[in-house]
Amino acid sequence: IQAEKNGYAHFMLKEIYEQPRAVRDTLRGRISAASGHIELPGLDLSHDEIVHAERILIASCGTSWHAGLVGKFLLERMVRIPVEVDYASEFRYRRPIMRSRDIGLLISQSGETADTLAAQLEMIAGDIPTLSICNVVDAALTRKARGSITTNAGPEIGVASTKAFTAQIAALLTLSLYFAQCRKTMPQEAVQSILRELEVLPKAMEEALRTSAPVCARLAKIFSNATDVLFLGRGIHYPIALEGALKLKEISYIHAEGYPAGEMKHGPNALIDETLPVVCLATKDGDDPDSVLKYEKTLSNIQEVTARGGRVIAIVVEGDTAVSSLVEHTITIPRASEALLPILETVPLQLLAYFIAVEKGCDVDQPRNLAKSVTVE
Ligand code: G6P
Repeated sequence: IQAEKNGYAHFMLKEIYEQPRAVRDTLRGRISAASGHIELPGLDLSHDEIVHAERILIASCGTSWHAGLVGKFLLERMVRIPVEVDYASEFRYRRPIMRSRDIGLLISQSGETADTLAAQLEMIAGDIPTLSICNVVDAALTRKARGSITTNAGPEIGVASTKAFTAQIAALLTLSLYFAQCRKTMPQEAVQSILRELEVLPKAMEEALRTSAPVCARLAKIFSNATDVLFLGRGIHYPIALEGALKLKEISYIHAEGYPAGEMKHGPNALIDETLPVVCLATKDGDDPDSVLKYEKTLSNIQEVTARGGRVIAIVVEGDTAVSSLVEHTITIPRASEALLPILETVPLQLLAYFIAVEKGCDVDQPRNLAKSVTVE
């Protein structure tokens, strides 16, 4: 087993470092920036079905559910199609409404999660086509799905999902751009511009790994004795805050919560004191008025935390000065468009959770009470 870790101390660390490769392999053969062409032959939906679809229903569990939330943002933004995201374990019990022009989308690393399979059965019974985004080619989920996108992350051993998650987001980006092209909801130039960025995304991820690893290792020493940690994000960054919190609680057993930054004043502000580390996703994605506005809102949320003595760790993009001057600690990642930032932001959050868990002497690859694949409901 030691050999399979390739010299890394844990499978989780190896898998964190495999992410640029996992994302590259998930995009490979499917996108071409030069031609502007996107290909998803495994999808098996007709052009008409895509053009006339009225809604997408996503169901998944755990980390894959967070990918679903990112997917909702991407699809609604790029395709202007309404998307609902459910925990698979909740989907069937709320007697979900399904209509003939809905498309079901199940997201799963293993393709064997019982709740996700049950949600798929519910969708099939509701007579809507189901698609899967799955890391295992011949899993129960993909066998029953009408169409599939395989995330080519390779086998994931660490119980806490890492490379499967960023590969799922890469698959969702491809799907969103593909639908946007079919439905002509984005100018081709805008599609191509994201494709160009996607082609260099693995390089940017390598850069994020290189620059953030030493910072996260240092921060882990400072914060490993925390009893609670808050993770804040707005918009597309909110699911990444949820994922950062989940990673930390899974492997370090520290209570952590992800919250939408704007909701702080409706409750969590009461928790803030000088013992509470607050991880803020404060990445600026451009200089257009919309990006500046979102960034300024995040800045004011950070000020709310620092004014109450909270200890902020901010994730920022290269060249940021405004956030850095406000907070105790920053972790820098490369600049990118909004749609790609979730993947880059995930890298330091995984590393932070990893180093804190190691600092605490936890069993990183096999956390207590958890299983890699939950095949019971
Ligand atoms: C388990 C794992 C998680 C995973 C979840 C969903 O809880 O520990 O890491 O996110 O199942 O698994 P799936 O294989 O469906 O993505």
